[in-house]
Amino acid sequence: MRMRRKKNRDTRFENCIELAVLEPQNHKGNWNKLFGNQNPVHVEIGCGKGGFILELARRNPDVNFVAIEKCLDVLILAMEKIKNEQIKNVRFLFGDANVLTDIFDCGEVERIYLNFSDPWKKSRQAKRRLTYVTFLEKYKYVLSEDGEVYFKTDNRPLFDFSLEQFELFGAKISELTFDLHNSEYNYNNIMTEYEKNFSEKGFPINRCVVTF
Ligand SMILES: C[S@@+](CC[C@H](N)C(=O)[O-])C[C@H]1O[C@@H](n2cnc3c(N)ncnc32)[C@H](O)[C@@H]1O
Repeated sequence: MRMRRKKNRDTRFENCIELAVLEPQNHKGNWNKLFGNQNPVHVEIGCGKGGFILELARRNPDVNFVAIEKCLDVLILAMEKIKNEQIKNVRFLFGDANVLTDIFDCGEVERIYLNFSDPWKKSRQAKRRLTYVTFLEKYKYVLSEDGEVYFKTDNRPLFDFSLEQFELFGAKISELTFDLHNSEYNYNNIMTEYEKNFSEKGFPINRCVVTF
């Protein structure tokens, strides 16, 4: 989906600038200094409009969250939500998640959330999927020993592809469900914007947890 360009987006970004990490590579190995505490770091890749990270951060004040988003128009909406609610434990990176290993040190991240990642439907686009093996290598590097990837999507072909990638990579899959909202794993689920939209249209949500 292509978003319409937001009015005054530079001004709106500037208004939330304290939430943006402009040179994230400078914080590699030192994210706890940036947050000013020793809390674990959790990352959401492709935070979209930010409804998920807002509620997650509210529920978990003892976790530091870094949300990565490559589309400025939706990133601004996410940043404004966090600013308006005066949430203190979230920072935002504007850019592509393929820089993950340049900005986080080995073992520096405890959890990665992939919510409704772009499916990149054509097989020649497979390398762009956030569950392609080159991304899994990056996740394995930045995650701590017991670190996890939480992955959910309505897109069954993407989910099947991802399960295959996890297995080929030798990763362990747990909490697997092809219908999250009618499963035992739904009890503390936070719905994303895409999740609300697709589940209202009757699509079941696939979800699993991956460890390396
Ligand atoms: C389908 S939307 C889902 C948004 C949100 N997670 C949700 O569930 O409502 C995918 C989002 O991921 C972002 N995205 C996709 N690939 C990315 C990448 N490699 N790095 C950073 N953001 C990415 C897109 O710009 C888009 O906002």
